[in-house]
Amino acid sequence: MTALYQLVRDADLTRRNTFGVPARAPWLLQVNDASLLPEALGLPQLRGLPLLPLGGGSNLLFAGDAPGAVLVMGGDRIELLPGDGDAVRVRAEAGAEWHGLVMWSVGQGLSGLENLALIPGSVGAAPIQNIGAYGVGAGERIVAVEAWDLGAQAFVRLDRDACAFGYRDSAFKRQPGRWIVTAVEFALSRTAAPRLGYAGLAEELAAMGVASPGPRETAEAVIRIRRRKLPDPAQVGNAGSFFKNPIVPRALAESLYQAHPALPVFPGDAEDTRKLSAAWLIDACGWKGRREGDAGVSAGHALVLVNHGRATGLQLLDLARRIAASVQERFGVALEPEPRVVGADW
Ligand code: EPU
Repeated sequence: MTALYQLVRDADLTRRNTFGVPARAPWLLQVNDASLLPEALGLPQLRGLPLLPLGGGSNLLFAGDAPGAVLVMGGDRIELLPGDGDAVRVRAEAGAEWHGLVMWSVGQGLSGLENLALIPGSVGAAPIQNIGAYGVGAGERIVAVEAWDLGAQAFVRLDRDACAFGYRDSAFKRQPGRWIVTAVEFALSRTAAPRLGYAGLAEELAAMGVASPGPRETAEAVIRIRRRKLPDPAQVGNAGSFFKNPIVPRALAESLYQAHPALPVFPGDAEDTRKLSAAWLIDACGWKGRREGDAGVSAGHALVLVNHGRATGLQLLDLARRIAASVQERFGVALEPEPRVVGADW
C-alpha cells in the first residue's frame, strides 16, 4: 500500500530535475492524498521552513540546494466529470503526468489538449507558468484550479479569471508560496476542430498523409515535430525553453525588424507591444550548438540549454547570463528565464 504521506531527510534531487544537475533538500515531503496536506505540512520537522513545490522538475534550475522542504504531490487520478453534451469536463490530480493526461484525453476522443502533447512535467505544474505550445495555452482549457491556500490555511477553488493567466504567467507564478495546486479541471470538447494555425503543424499533418485530422492525429504531429526539434530530457538534461520570448514596445520591435527582416515578430500582450523570438535572437548571436564543458545550447533549438552530463546548475546559470548579456548588447532586448531559478537570483 502507498503511504498517505512520507517525509525523507536529506533528499537527493538530481533525478527529480530534468536538467539532471546535482542538488539536495533538507527534507522531501511526498503527499499522496491531498486532503492530508494540512496534517503533513504541520509535521514538527517542517515548522518554519520554506516550502518548494516540485512537479516533474522540468521547469526549474537548481543553482544551489533547496533551502527548506521540497513538496511533491503524489495523487495522479484523472476522471471525466458528470455532464452531457459536447463540452466535457475533466479533472486531474496534480501528480498526474502532463503528457499522460494529453494522451488519455485524445484517446477519449476529446479535443483541447492535443497541441500540448509531449510537454514534460506534471498536471499541477501546468497552470503555474501556463504551459503552451503550437498556438494553445493550457490556461485556455483550464476552468478551475484546486489548491491549498497556505496563507488562508484553507482549500480553495480558483476559477479561470482568478488564475489570471498570461504568456507563461499566472497568479500562481506572481505569488509564489501562496498556493499548493492539488488538482486542475479542464473543459474539453467532443467536436471542436483542431487548431492548426501554428507554423509547421498543418505541413506535418500533410506529410503524415492525414486529410482530416482529429485530436489524436494532431497530437501525433506535435509529437513528431517536438521529437525532431527538442532534446528529450531522458537523453540529455534540459528544461525546454530556457528563456521566455521577450515582450517589447512596438517601436523597438519595428526598428529591429527593419534592420533584421528575418526576425519573427508576434502579437504582444497589448496593442503597443510585440513578442519577439528569443530563439532567433540567441541564434543570431551565435550560441546555437555551443558547448562549454558540459553546459551548452542545444544544436536543435537555440532556446534550450542542455546538460551534456556533469554540468552544475551554477555553470548553466552562468552560461544563461552570458547569453542574455550578448542579446542585450547586440539587440537591446532583455531576456528573462522561463524556468524558476532556485538558490540564486537571476
Ligand atoms: N528559431 C531560430 N533558431 C532556433 C529555433 C527557432 O531562429 O534555433 C526561430 C525560427 O524562426 C522559428 C521561431 O524561432 O520559426 C520560433 O521557433 P519555435 O516554433 O520553436 O517556437 P519558440 O517561440 O522558440 C515556443 C515555446 C516552446 C514551444 C514552441 C512551439 C516559449 C518560450 N517557447 O518556442 O515551449 O514548444 O513555441 O509552440 O514560449 C517551453 O516553454 O519549454 C517550450 C519548449
